[in-house]
Amino acid sequence: MKNNKIYYYGKQTIEQSDIEAVCKILPSQFITQGPVSVEFENELKKFFGANYASVVANGTASLHMIALALCWKKNDIIITSPITFLSSANCAIFVGAKVDFVDINPKTYTIDVNKLEKKLIDYKNQNKKVKAVVAVDFAGHPSDWKSLFELKNKFGFQLVNDFCHALGAEFNNDIQYAVKYADAVNFSFHPVKHITTGEGGAVLTNDEQIDKRVKMLRTHGMTKDENLLEKNDGPWYYEMHEVGFNYRITDFQCALGINQLKRLKKFISARRKIANYYDSFFNNDDRVIIPSVEKNVKHAYHLYPLQIKFDKLKIDKKEFFYRLKENGVVFQVHYIPVHLQPFYRKKFGFKLGDFPIAEKFYEREISIPIYPTLTKKDLVFITNAIKKTLDSYR
Ligand SMILES: Cc1ncc(COP(=O)(O)O)c(C=O)c1O
Repeated sequence: MKNNKIYYYGKQTIEQSDIEAVCKILPSQFITQGPVSVEFENELKKFFGANYASVVANGTASLHMIALALCWKKNDIIITSPITFLSSANCAIFVGAKVDFVDINPKTYTIDVNKLEKKLIDYKNQNKKVKAVVAVDFAGHPSDWKSLFELKNKFGFQLVNDFCHALGAEFNNDIQYAVKYADAVNFSFHPVKHITTGEGGAVLTNDEQIDKRVKMLRTHGMTKDENLLEKNDGPWYYEMHEVGFNYRITDFQCALGINQLKRLKKFISARRKIANYYDSFFNNDDRVIIPSVEKNVKHAYHLYPLQIKFDKLKIDKKEFFYRLKENGVVFQVHYIPVHLQPFYRKKFGFKLGDFPIAEKFYEREISIPIYPTLTKKDLVFITNAIKKTLDSYR
């Protein structure tokens, strides 16, 4: 079973038509944010059923602008999941807000809505109000959006979907669920994601005011909107009413995004086939736990999080990493629980034991290769490599 390749957990899918799409834009008059960016926004709106879309430099920038557009202020309380990328929590820090976490549901690995409700009640009993919840559709499995929406109506917080993993996922047979439940939805087009623009992100929303603020903030807080100007010296004239950023994305990146979006459904179906293969391979192996999928959900499989019972098997995860690498597969771990990052421990006093399900998940989780260009031969190689490595501890 020797194979000179090393398999990593994720990889972009770039074909000739992508290269041509980018090259077509490069000689244009506009290569930074211009007409192709608007076209990409229109395609995103259509695909995800949103009234408004703003494409931006990356998914962290879009979360930052969501935080500003939703008017999060110093000491506001923002809740997210500990099993996510840093940005889902950091966006609150950017604007001086406080971060709190709620543990994950052990089956879906998304925020546990029962524990969230308990936390909301606790805050209410202390006369504190939670400003927003950033729910992460982790790995491509939608959070329990129906319950989240009910809690939003009951407790009056804002709801953000950090949707970076879940493009193409379905909730109650709806591929356009994200904007229906959340006030604002965050996308990343990093190369490991379902579709890429190299670096890139987007904010989708059905709220005109949020969209207006995001569009202004991504270009230095400048506006040329005649309805907002205090005066108008001429066609060159702009005004700045608040501090913004340069979070623009280029038109040639958006050309890539448009071409990739056309193939999103194909990408998702390839990812689902790979997940099916892994599911059937590992299903009867009691050393591992395969990801489960709720009945009302279709998973988008940005990641295939396989849990290995390292604790029960008395296997050292770090040693397992190197043994598996020897056998040709390099896994990544998603994620180191955010509350255990030194910054969050020091700033808010979080500690080991605060969110035990997330911590156990981190101990066991490995993200194994999943991307559309993996062939059957690759999958045979990868699964055999994992099995052989596990067997080597017998
Ligand atoms: C859940 C989640 N949120 C936010 C981000 C940030 O996106 P970006 O890397 O484009 O800044 C990522 C990307 O890694 C992510 O996975």
